Amino acid sequence: MTRHLLKAEIHCHIEGAAPPVLAAKQADKYGVDTTGFLRDGAYVWNDFSEFLVCYDRVAALFRTDADYALLTESYLTELAGANTIYSEIIVSPDHGDRIGLGADAYLSGICEGIRRAGEKTGIEARIIVTGERHFGPDSVIAAAEYAARSQNPLVTGFNMAGEERMGRVADYARAFDIARDAGLGLTIHAGEVCGPFSVIDALDLVRPSRLGHGVRAVEDPELVARLRDLGTVLEVCPGSNVALNVYPDFHHHPLRRLHKEGVRVCLNSDDPPFFHTSLEREYEIASSVMGFSDAEINAMTRTAIEAAFVDEATRQRLL
Ligand code: ADE
Ligand code: ZN
Repeated sequence: MTRHLLKAEIHCHIEGAAPPVLAAKQADKYGVDTTGFLRDGAYVWNDFSEFLVCYDRVAALFRTDADYALLTESYLTELAGANTIYSEIIVSPDHGDRIGLGADAYLSGICEGIRRAGEKTGIEARIIVTGERHFGPDSVIAAAEYAARSQNPLVTGFNMAGEERMGRVADYARAFDIARDAGLGLTIHAGEVCGPFSVIDALDLVRPSRLGHGVRAVEDPELVARLRDLGTVLEVCPGSNVALNVYPDFHHHPLRRLHKEGVRVCLNSDDPPFFHTSLEREYEIASSVMGFSDAEINAMTRTAIEAAFVDEATRQRLL
């Protein structure tokens, strides 16, 4: 049982945290037909491409700052109920823009949700602005410029999510230069759908302190050694990887091997209701299926906090 363990995550997409029940309510409110992506209380998709389409359709059900405040507050309150002390939320201003809400109102709704959940439960959270790779390099650069301009103290990092098979990291490197120059922490989805080349590109061109997923680096022993020597933290999301069929089951998942090789890893939920998971379930699987001891799991939580894009005073308080 891992319920009693303190938890932290540094990789969860805000729209990806929307429970189907809430999405259905939102669809009713705005008169949106959900057939095709929401059926019998579950999201409907069959592969990674369909998942991304489904994700974007769910995102389009959140249309006001109040919608985003409610979504964020509910997600963080549930996390806090499972003993979670810290969460980094991945947000994409593009989704706010695409629905006509605008990036500022989108962000202020999310901040309000963080404030309310923090007040109620004490959970600490920060925001990572992300570009969506499948929206193209210009939109990823615009997201980086937005994050760089933001004076919001909760915005502490920059990421790129979306379709990893679209283009090469080089096409998006400028976005990361902008974010780095602005002092933001850097992480990037790589080595999830694509193999080691994608992680090598990310390390060479982005020089991030963390990687979203990164698990397919395991296919290249030299790359595993490079990650270990650099101390790059992998934001591992086992439930997501199995649901998206990157691995057939948890026994074939490389978390154990990466951990054994000395790569720094932590546990994350990614898009929990899309993958029928939760952070609590990820911890439980690490314990009961993958055989990690409580001490090893606590060390992973510590790794998440050490790698968090947060000021030192807050980090020390959380550690
Ligand atoms: N956006 C939301 N979840 C994602 C994932 N697992 N990979 C890439 N982009 C995403
Ligand atoms: Zn992700």
